[in-house]
Amino acid sequence: MDLEKLLSDRLAPAFAAVAGVPVDPVVRRSQHADFQSDAALGLARRLGRPPRAVAEEVRERAELADLCAAVDVSGPGFLNLTVADRTLAGMVSALAVDPRLGVPVVAEPETVVVDYSAPNVAKEMHVGHLRSTVIGDAAARTLEWLGHRVSRANHLGDWGTPFGMLIEHLVDLGEAEAAQELSMGDLDTFYTAARAKFDGDDAFRERSRSRVVALQGGDPATLRLWRLLVAQSESYFLTVYDLLDVTLSRADFRGESSYHDLLAPTVGELDRLGLLRRSDGAECVFPPGSVGRDGEPLPLIVRKSDGGYGYPATDLAALRHRTGTLGATRLLYVVGLPQRRHFEMVFAVAAQAGWLTPPARAEHVGFGSILGADGRMLRSRAGGSVKLVGLLTEAVERATALARERSPELDETEAAEVGRAVGIGAIKFADLSGDRHKDYVLDWERMLALDGNTAPYLQYAYSRIRSIFRRAGVAARPDAGISLAEPAERALAVELVGFAAVVDAVAGSLEFHHLAAYLHRLAAAFSAFYERCPVLRAEGPVRESRLVLCDLTARVLHQGLHLLGIRTPERL
Ligand code: ARG
Repeated sequence: MDLEKLLSDRLAPAFAAVAGVPVDPVVRRSQHADFQSDAALGLARRLGRPPRAVAEEVRERAELADLCAAVDVSGPGFLNLTVADRTLAGMVSALAVDPRLGVPVVAEPETVVVDYSAPNVAKEMHVGHLRSTVIGDAAARTLEWLGHRVSRANHLGDWGTPFGMLIEHLVDLGEAEAAQELSMGDLDTFYTAARAKFDGDDAFRERSRSRVVALQGGDPATLRLWRLLVAQSESYFLTVYDLLDVTLSRADFRGESSYHDLLAPTVGELDRLGLLRRSDGAECVFPPGSVGRDGEPLPLIVRKSDGGYGYPATDLAALRHRTGTLGATRLLYVVGLPQRRHFEMVFAVAAQAGWLTPPARAEHVGFGSILGADGRMLRSRAGGSVKLVGLLTEAVERATALARERSPELDETEAAEVGRAVGIGAIKFADLSGDRHKDYVLDWERMLALDGNTAPYLQYAYSRIRSIFRRAGVAARPDAGISLAEPAERALAVELVGFAAVVDAVAGSLEFHHLAAYLHRLAAAFSAFYERCPVLRAEGPVRESRLVLCDLTARVLHQGLHLLGIRTPERL
């Protein structure tokens, strides 16, 4: 059902015949025809022949007559493929009756662990956690829809030395007071106050130190206080996930503490394998290929000189658990790019230790920062880091105000619903529509605009289609014949049948901007179609066919946005 793949499968034998070896035809969407292959250029270089002649020979050998209306050699040696109308119409008809819109469930489901969100207990979530949460959730949704077994791992920072001071501060405040502060999401106040006492008060610092020892020693009273802190933060994070329409639930918390008992065995195994080296009193592994700027080998510290295990050891234990116990073959870590080195080293050590062997593989799904309008790291007016909830609330408020303005007929409840879907959708889409490796500027005007590559534009296209059906009180007949006489109909059909290829590519690369760009192209193709081709005023089979095109567009928009975690209200 994937047109790119279909064409590529037909071109491949022709290329192979000309080359004498297999060649990837690299079929892509094109401005000049429906699709284009530029593989003849590279092949010609290798064969030392004129590229146009190579393209011509491939054209003659390829069996495309049943799929294409025209196959032309153009420019320096491109193959331009124009799909036959009846091929397109046939594919659209097949899509119309397919609840999965041409996207098959994978033949070999994998167990995939998506490590994402991962805020820290008793600390405010910042915009970096927002990106991880939004991208990770899109990955989990997409892979799950394709039939993989997805395990969401919220690697909460819930362990380590800061808990000494946090627990002591909780004791000082009194449990009730502390619970009150934390449940209101005043995490920064709590953390900053604890930190200030730690830095300025010797007695407090001493208490905090013994508290860490008690915590690590499993002292029941200390553990109870620690659990209180964790539980309060978890509840708070869940309210953020709820506001954000994220699929993470209470069952997905896999805090660092949950790997506690696995740390000693994990490091023990590294020792047995002879991988540990002592360096400055710490136990380290020097994975091959990890060198610093000065060319010196870089260590991954698995046990600190004070005997404690830290962040790297926890990630090693978690990885070993994920492949060894959960049987996962694909491990995703949706974490900002500053942690790239950390993950490279963790993966290298895990590979050395035999915990990460094919088919299992790990990917750091890294991302850049969110910048303010001044092009620098996003900061609050006071200069601190921006509170995530504040950002989300502002998005919803702005979108609600816009909804009231644009659609005065909505009542208060409807306007609030729309504001939420549009505001949260706009934030998520702004994050997912750019190349995740790059930084991006948070620009309210742009992300809430009704035109452009934005969530509101796509949500608007969706609601407009739904209103066509509502107004006319009709439904599309999925088995209606498809006719593609108008160029705008044809262009829309080409986009519709392209959904499967995009989803397939994105499931591999986790570069959701390709899905976002596709949905934008689809909505734009729909707009052009709707401007030029009357739907309700058309008659007979043409009307039936156009209703199917409308309905399919809405379904693909809905499904595509759903994979990105974005809602599609019926009215805007
Ligand atoms: N809690 C960490 C932070 O806030 C992110 C953890 C990412 N996941 C992991 N497995 N290390 O920076």
